[in-house]
Amino acid sequence: MIAFKKTTTQPKRIVVTSALPYANGPIHIGHLVEYIQTDIYVRFLKLCGIDAAYCCADDTHGTPIEINAAKQGISPERLIAKYHAEHQQDFKGFLIEFDSYYSTNSPENQTYADLIFTALKDAGHIYQKKVENFYDEKEGRFLPDRYVKGECPKCGAPDQYGDVCEKCNATYSPTDLVNPYSIVSGERPVRKASVHYFFRLSSFSERLSAWLTGNTELQKEVVNHVMRWVEEGLQDWDISRDGPYFGFRIPGEKDKYYYVWLDAPIGYISSTENYVRERNSREPDPKRHLSTADYWKSDSSRIIHFIGKDIIYFHLLFWPAMLMASGFRLPDKVVVHGFLTINREKMSKSRGTFITARDYLSRLDPLYLRYYYAANLTSKPGDLDLDFEDFKAKTNNELVGNIANFTYRTLSFLKTRLGGRTGGLRLRDYETEAGEVVEILGRIRKDYEGLEFREAVKGINELASIGNRFFQEREPWKLAADEPEEARAVLTFCANVVKELAITLKPVLPTFSAGLEAQLGLKGLSWKDLGFTINETIIKGAEILVGKLEEVDLRIPADEDPSGKGKGAAAGPAGAALPLDLRVAKVVAVEDHPDADKLIIMRIDLGGEERQIVAGIRQWYRKEDLVGRNLVVVANLEPAKLRGVESQAMLLACDGGKDIEVIFADASSPGDRVGFEGAAVSSATVSFPQFQGFDLQARKGAVLFAGKPLRTSSEPIVTRRIPDGKVR
Ligand code: MSP
Ligand code: ZN
Repeated sequence: MIAFKKTTTQPKRIVVTSALPYANGPIHIGHLVEYIQTDIYVRFLKLCGIDAAYCCADDTHGTPIEINAAKQGISPERLIAKYHAEHQQDFKGFLIEFDSYYSTNSPENQTYADLIFTALKDAGHIYQKKVENFYDEKEGRFLPDRYVKGECPKCGAPDQYGDVCEKCNATYSPTDLVNPYSIVSGERPVRKASVHYFFRLSSFSERLSAWLTGNTELQKEVVNHVMRWVEEGLQDWDISRDGPYFGFRIPGEKDKYYYVWLDAPIGYISSTENYVRERNSREPDPKRHLSTADYWKSDSSRIIHFIGKDIIYFHLLFWPAMLMASGFRLPDKVVVHGFLTINREKMSKSRGTFITARDYLSRLDPLYLRYYYAANLTSKPGDLDLDFEDFKAKTNNELVGNIANFTYRTLSFLKTRLGGRTGGLRLRDYETEAGEVVEILGRIRKDYEGLEFREAVKGINELASIGNRFFQEREPWKLAADEPEEARAVLTFCANVVKELAITLKPVLPTFSAGLEAQLGLKGLSWKDLGFTINETIIKGAEILVGKLEEVDLRIPADEDPSGKGKGAAAGPAGAALPLDLRVAKVVAVEDHPDADKLIIMRIDLGGEERQIVAGIRQWYRKEDLVGRNLVVVANLEPAKLRGVESQAMLLACDGGKDIEVIFADASSPGDRVGFEGAAVSSATVSFPQFQGFDLQARKGAVLFAGKPLRTSSEPIVTRRIPDGKVR
């Protein structure tokens, strides 16, 4: 048996990855289980002062991407660039913070792919063999299994894929299909031979077994599963594809490419390289510069992959074998999670439960989903169910009813009844409760470390419950008038628990925690700030940071545009409705109104739709300061003629009396919706008098509708010069 080196001392640095999403479609809430899980873990590591880097990328190669681009009449490069931008926006919308989000179609990735391929070849792990595959003569291309359909050889059901019949569940190989046809051209494919490259996976059985059974950090269920494959005998792996193919050409070949799954995991290394380069550029001391090898060929690093259960074979067999054969460090941990189901069923377009990241963000604040996933994630690879009833119940009872209730109650009591001052903490009087708090904090840390987020969230709720009980039993409202110092002592204990909540919740709800920090007048809290550290301080604010959910039904109505610009059924905090269709629009061109010296005429882009608007801001803004910027506009206002020129929307601006400020949203994209958490949006036309009746204003720089802060999926809507005023 071969023994594998393990890091014995504290690792100096950790690279953490999520599987690379295909650059061939939108991010959906199933993907987000993984990205949120990984993000929570990395945020936790960083909170503990660990040097961790979250590296990911788009997986850009392969037949589907190539065919899709061709269908749309664009180059694959254009297609993957579009998804690269979109994916990053979506992740940002869910507060998923990568240290590097790169692409497998990068020069670094090609370099590493060639390096690893050549190393495998030189070591004799690669051989060539002729294989027969389906070939579409009309299209002039080989067809992957999923691109051939036909009648089931067992039951005769039409239109079945080449691997399994959805009607009778029979499994077979694509060549068994009766009357096969290519889904690209509809033609009957022929069988054609070509020479492929194979990786000798079979010769790694022993080394893989040693690694799988010797690494105690792998999940038992997963190891058992994979060991069964190993025992059944590993097949060598076909790692090449014939052109036309979007990928990296194999050195020395004219029209053969690496199979996408060869260079995809190598993307973990090249994304690390991208990270290291940026990190070094921020580090003036060259002695402290790192190299990619400090992560991937070092004994003082750790490599942790998060993946879904459908790609175990690639990550626990192919990938470690490739790394072993080419002299890289093996993964220290591969965390496998299960699949998301919605109301206990698979996500499905026809049931309306194929919910994209954008669909979700146009309806609800990301914090609810982050909380719900955390509250359901364990270290086991079991599936996770998003049940709408349970989602609402967990949010309202735990997050809002227990945690946020306690923090708001504490801070607002301090603010309104005790002049915003804490002090006189008397820990000796509260020994029992303080002891409980400390014990729970220890458990929460272990649970985060062990990826038992469900338990960590339970612990956090226990903290809040202790706080609520403490508040209730000490009845500070009875003390506030006559014995304010008694009340202050009670509330100072509570303020400390608020701080513990802010810290322990940071990995899951970074914005909520940031809100609590700001209200406590603290900044940049980390794990080492836990404990009863607050005594005399001034409370800066007491605002409600998260609202209750009403009916939750995230399904996409059947008649709705599946692109995710959803507007139909929505869930939201009580009474939440936004009668306005507020959108981000880019200014394309500006000119003076010919007949009015206060007006300008702008052409704006609403994300594919151009409109003209007339605005009275000529005296405040120069044309060149407007062109190219993103504004917030009311897109459902009745069109009106202003001095003979039609205005087809209205921009929002804050009126400070003497000055006005146009409201910009430069971090968002044209067409993005502006709303508030959980808002049900109506796009029915609104008349100008109706519009004037709406409560839109800026307060302390936040733009509010009926008191609720407006935002896009990527940024809050704010004013910068005029903090308070009417918005119109
Ligand atoms: N491109 C490959 C991964 C290459 S890694 C070197 C891929 N991409 S994917 O877009 O299909 O999936 C990305 C990740 O999301 C995978 O880990 C996958 O398991 C996970 N999920 C995709 N759908 C999911 C659910 N419905 N539920 C939970 N996770 C899901 O695979
Ligand atoms: Zn069948």
